[in-house]
Amino acid sequence: MVTPHPNHKPPEHGIHLMTDTIKLDINGKAFTLAAEPRVTLLDALREHLGLTGTKKGCDQGQCGACTVHLDGERVLACLTLAAQAEGKAVTTIEGLAGEDGTLHAVQAAFLEHDAFQCGYCTPGQIMSAVACIREGHAGSDAEIREYMSGNLCRCGAYPHIVAAVRQAAEAVR
Ligand code: FES
Ligand code: FES
Repeated sequence: MVTPHPNHKPPEHGIHLMTDTIKLDINGKAFTLAAEPRVTLLDALREHLGLTGTKKGCDQGQCGACTVHLDGERVLACLTLAAQAEGKAVTTIEGLAGEDGTLHAVQAAFLEHDAFQCGYCTPGQIMSAVACIREGHAGSDAEIREYMSGNLCRCGAYPHIVAAVRQAAEAVR
């Protein structure tokens, strides 16, 4: 058996990283990016497009910090490929306020109720809360807790978050 020289490098096997052109509609604006097909929507938003409002917590579907909307439905951007979002309307926390800067009712309620401490989970909490209210799953504190249970808050701001969601839900009824 021949022992390879220590400086020997194995031959390349022709592995090339391919990039795709991915077209996204984010907060009503058209974006085009060149990225590997495996890039997640979360990395596309944060790393390619500079939309860092959407947070990366666990990057494996367990914390909800990366929650965004696809055609109005909440999804975890870390478990969604950017390519899967083509042809759909992506809404992120940056697209929630009105064009004149007026806060969405859920954003205003989070401020009023101090529904955060460090704020890292907050964009995901707010995006989830907007969908939760729209889905009709904010009828009671227990229901809010259950339907917001995918959004973790390491600071334990849950009582204030529930109060904020309740107020915003009552405001849109
Ligand atoms: Fe997506 Fe935690 S970063 S669920
Ligand atoms: Fe800090 Fe929720 S406010 S993690």
